[in-house]
Amino acid sequence: MTTVTLIPGDGIGPEVTAATRQVVDALGVGIEWEVHDAGAPAIEAHGSPLPEHVLRSITTNKVALKGPVTTPVGTGFRSINVALRQELDLFASVRPCRLYPGVASRFDAVDIVVVRENTEDLYEGIEFECSSKEATKLRGFLSYMHGFDMRPDSGISIKPISISATHAIVEYAFEYARKYRRRKVTLGHKANIMKFSDGVWLSEGEARAAEYRDVGFEAIQVDELAMHLAWTPDDMDVIVLPNLYGDIISDLCAGLIGGLGLAPGMNLGKDHAVFEPTHGSAPDIAGKGVANPIAMILSAVLMLRHIGQRDAGDRLERAVATVLANGKIRPADLRPVGEPATTDAVADAIVAALP
Ligand code: NAI
Repeated sequence: MTTVTLIPGDGIGPEVTAATRQVVDALGVGIEWEVHDAGAPAIEAHGSPLPEHVLRSITTNKVALKGPVTTPVGTGFRSINVALRQELDLFASVRPCRLYPGVASRFDAVDIVVVRENTEDLYEGIEFECSSKEATKLRGFLSYMHGFDMRPDSGISIKPISISATHAIVEYAFEYARKYRRRKVTLGHKANIMKFSDGVWLSEGEARAAEYRDVGFEAIQVDELAMHLAWTPDDMDVIVLPNLYGDIISDLCAGLIGGLGLAPGMNLGKDHAVFEPTHGSAPDIAGKGVANPIAMILSAVLMLRHIGQRDAGDRLERAVATVLANGKIRPADLRPVGEPATTDAVADAIVAALP
């Protein structure tokens, strides 16, 4: 019996989590779920968006499966997702984007893995509100020390990129490429403009790449990378990116393989792993029972492999592939020809297709 922390989240989170739990339980691998709230539901119940006992559950179990959690825009509590990644030092976000037969796409074959640095960059949370005392002080300091003339009506976010975090994530990307026999690692950057932050990223990335001569390597500007992905995605393999570019590019890659409803993900640290889909809480469709649960189910596939249940993970992925190839049961986001399938109907079809 393996105990896994289960965070249903909010919005469509509880719906896709219930579907995922149903299909994982049908595998009969003996997982005990320890269910906890995070985000707005946790504030109501426990007075904090990320209560201490939730962190304790993950540090004890080492593995969590998590639904999306809404982050208020502009005001309110900071992202639980970012806080979890920082608290547990989940330094690597890994998002495999694979096109399954039967899914409509502009491309014939896409098999890309986005490896995103997860703890720093503009997501570190060093921010100064427009017109605040702190922002005014910082502007004064920058003007006095360096002659930088910043507009007085600016909000400010700081982008730290360290050698150590770059070292860890680029090394992870190469080790991943080696382990799964991928042909190359592409490093995206914007070091021509951000010479000191992306400059560290590029130079440390190139230094690590030199230690992995058996894996191909290229470094390209992230805007050019976006163009290549929209044009010839089959040229891409493993892509390693700093936090913000990784966030954007992994959604772009989800668009290449049928959309967010099919894009799984995992956040890995040295000691803990949190598995979650790339998508958010989708408030526009929450509560309607129409969300596509496959991204969350494929995140559970990654989780099963991580906890040593490789066969169960393979069986579940095969069942998902069968349902997608068959095409009869399709949720609304996959643009079915006939009536769209509900979240529960997709889960039932996957259980029925289990080998
Ligand atoms: P979103 O991913 O929730 O939704 C974008 C679009 O994709 C919407 O039209 C939505 O209906 C659709 N969509 C997403 N997942 C789907 C699914 N499984 N099935 C069918 N359609 C799906 O992104 P959005 O709207 O920017 O974010 C909503 C909230 O989620 C925000 O508060 C954001 O901060 C949060 N969020 C949380 C994440 C997490 O918990 N890891 C990740 C991304 C966003």
